[in-house]
Amino acid sequence: MQSAPIQVEGNRVTLEPGRSLRGEVMVPGDKSISHRALLIGAVAEGNTTIHGMLAAEDPRSTAECLRAMGVAVSPLEDGNQPVVVQGVGLDGLQEPVDVLNCGNSGTTMRLLLGLLSGCKGRYFVLTGDGSLRQRPMGRVSHPLCQAMGASIHGRANGAFAPLGVSGCQLQGGVIGTSVPSAQVKSALLLAGLTASSSVSVIEPNRSRDHSERMLKAFGADVQVNGDYGRHVRLTPGRSLRGQEVHVPGDVSSAAFWLVGAAVIPGSRLRLPHVGLNPTRTGVVEVLQAMGAQLQVENRREITGEPVGDLLVQHSALGPFSIGPDLVPRLVDEIPALAVAALFAEGASRIHGARELRVKETDRLAVMTRQLRAMGAVVEETADGLVIEGPQKLRGAGLDSETDHRVAMSLALAALNAQGPSRIHGADAAGVSYPGFWRQLGRLLGG
Ligand code: S3P
Repeated sequence: MQSAPIQVEGNRVTLEPGRSLRGEVMVPGDKSISHRALLIGAVAEGNTTIHGMLAAEDPRSTAECLRAMGVAVSPLEDGNQPVVVQGVGLDGLQEPVDVLNCGNSGTTMRLLLGLLSGCKGRYFVLTGDGSLRQRPMGRVSHPLCQAMGASIHGRANGAFAPLGVSGCQLQGGVIGTSVPSAQVKSALLLAGLTASSSVSVIEPNRSRDHSERMLKAFGADVQVNGDYGRHVRLTPGRSLRGQEVHVPGDVSSAAFWLVGAAVIPGSRLRLPHVGLNPTRTGVVEVLQAMGAQLQVENRREITGEPVGDLLVQHSALGPFSIGPDLVPRLVDEIPALAVAALFAEGASRIHGARELRVKETDRLAVMTRQLRAMGAVVEETADGLVIEGPQKLRGAGLDSETDHRVAMSLALAALNAQGPSRIHGADAAGVSYPGFWRQLGRLLGG
């Protein structure tokens, strides 16, 4: 008798390879869009109703911070219940009586730093878990303070949380960012909502544009210019109006199934209703260029965001090469793509991905360490990885090292290894993908 393909015991998941992934899977709502709908809805006039909200730990952190500032946000439940945010207007956030806890969520902390900097006469302290307190916040606090006149204080000259923000009248400006980061860009645009003049953000490469799209949909004056949309200008003066938001499935969560089905023999999956914003679809293009059987069907648009259904099945794969221009369009998918590289024929290269070292963990180091535990040969460089495939992996004891995307990526490697693997810290997946292990069991026919 074949043993169960997946066993979940508390924080540990044991995976037995040998089965394929088959069926249909609805991925949960897009994390980036969920955060923005909560935050922008909070400072709009009137109610915002969010359908398809991601009910995971990260957006819950955002909702909890907003509640602590007097915004009524209905519970983020796992079912299909829409979330209603009762907007308090651009000047309506109240001074919280306690520290705001952003948990593991960089998006919560960075976007709030921008939004709260302009809340005149109110004081806020933001903190987070052990991972977030080590992540660089100077990339947000420094331009906010130096170019817009914000007052943010914290360790290492405002580079690390906990951070204190004294809300004040901000000024506009033209700000060139040193890294393409949607979190930095979004923080500056949100700060611009209450600035005395327009704020322009110029990025070295275009990052995801969900903030621009959503701010426009709520009535803000946002102009996108420059080659490839690298220049974004927000002109203050308009109030925002609450909206009905439909959140598509998260392509970053879909990526685990796309890679899983592409590399595990006999697999075939359908993923309806996945967000296909072109600033996010690098993973789809890379897999297609590798020769994956991956089709997009039924392309459409909902609340200003492109969406489609994805069909993917196992096939022989070739290698890929990812450089700095592409990294912003698949920055969260590199751990999963590293697993795809292990099973592709030839040498895959990732460079210009230094940003991965300051994500929830140092993902270049953690993926290298964990994959090596399975016998993988992985070359870690200063800003990327080189992986020559195809490789045979052996089942092993693995650890997410608290990183949600590492936990889910390792599951794919484990399902294509020889012998069982046990993943410690598997509950980290709940940061962005509640129900991941349950869905995995169902798709494996367990
Ligand atoms: C996010 C932007 C990205 C991404 C993160 C979510 C966002 O971070 O890695 O998971 O919602 O704006 P950076 O903007 O720092 O690259």
